[in-house]
Amino acid sequence: MKKLFSEYELKNIKLKNRICVPPMVVGLTEDGYVTLENVEYYRRLAKGGAGLIIQEATCVNKDGKLSERQLGIWEDGQIEGLKEIVKVVHAQDCKIFIQIHHAGVVGISESPLCPSAYIYQCSDKTVVGQEMTKEDITSIQKDFIEAGRRAYEAGYDGIELHGCHSYLISQFYNKKVNTRNDEYGTNPDRFVLEILDGIRKITPKEFIVGIRLGGFEPTLEDGIKHAKVLEQNGIDFLDISYGFSNEQEMQVSDDYQFSSAMYAAEKIKNEVTVPVFGVHKINSLEIAEEILEKTKIDIVDIGRNFLINPNWLNDAKEGKYAGKCLACPQCVVLSKDKPICPGKVLLERTAK
Ligand SMILES: Cc1cc2nc3c(=O)[nH]c(=O)nc-3n(C[C@H](O)[C@H](O)[C@H](O)COP(=O)(O)O)c2cc1C
Repeated sequence: MKKLFSEYELKNIKLKNRICVPPMVVGLTEDGYVTLENVEYYRRLAKGGAGLIIQEATCVNKDGKLSERQLGIWEDGQIEGLKEIVKVVHAQDCKIFIQIHHAGVVGISESPLCPSAYIYQCSDKTVVGQEMTKEDITSIQKDFIEAGRRAYEAGYDGIELHGCHSYLISQFYNKKVNTRNDEYGTNPDRFVLEILDGIRKITPKEFIVGIRLGGFEPTLEDGIKHAKVLEQNGIDFLDISYGFSNEQEMQVSDDYQFSSAMYAAEKIKNEVTVPVFGVHKINSLEIAEEILEKTKIDIVDIGRNFLINPNWLNDAKEGKYAGKCLACPQCVVLSKDKPICPGKVLLERTAK
């Protein structure tokens, strides 16, 4: 485990290892304000031994929520609670970024916005997204920029823009969803670059700003193009995952041994020098180490295993049975309402 447990310098911060707990919405708030449950959840997670936690998708605007019980960063009053999360995580020698988010057409708004008029089909409903006006675009960009300022004031080590998994930035990037013929359609990078620029103007240059980006948006070639433009414009890291769910073309070699998201991350890392994170179904420390050994990927994201057992990493490191996510979709469904993993037995075991 030489690489996995080696320190890693990301811009101005040092991570104690190469393991990141990626953002996972856990539905522990009623009104978007941080609760004691949120703070306890992050305290336990930070004790688990990862070098970095990226806090769950935290919404920049009430109208952009993906679920009723999502955390928010849309007003200054929310900063105090967010500071508590930062404090308990830092106390465990763990760094923390916050993922800032707007759901666009895949949110719960009565009249959801989208870069272009778009019919979003998901399993239980059909949603009609309204095309954003230029005023809508400017206003939501301002929400992201203000959220960036609040994140800095709350003491986070950095920000991750939520730019994948079908949400608003992913909608701008994906040309099958964004069919605008103005400058936000002909140049799909523009929406996010203006946000990046706005955050840079009001936060110190050391403040880390990265993005979670769809590797297939809709194709891998597009994903690589977006990554390169972001690098040229000073993004600090690229956390590569999946793109807009109904509109991505994933072409991955049949004999590829890791996940499709990892495949995209690997291809992107071959084209950029900024730190790249990779994700999906990393179920053991051995696999995590193998990824770092065999690819140029810098950081591995391990998500659901930490939901099953927040002490997953320490347990696995000590050779104890740590648990393994079986990838049933239940936690994703439950997170919209209440936490979280049906494999509660393990959670209870670690709580003792
Ligand atoms: C309950 C749950 C909530 C999630 N919430 C987010 C989120 O807020 N932002 C995000 O980018 N990804 C989110 N994801 C995706 C995870 O960050 C991660 O990419 C995914 O679980 C795959 O990694 P894993 O196989 O290690 O779990 C969520 C996943 C789950 C299971």
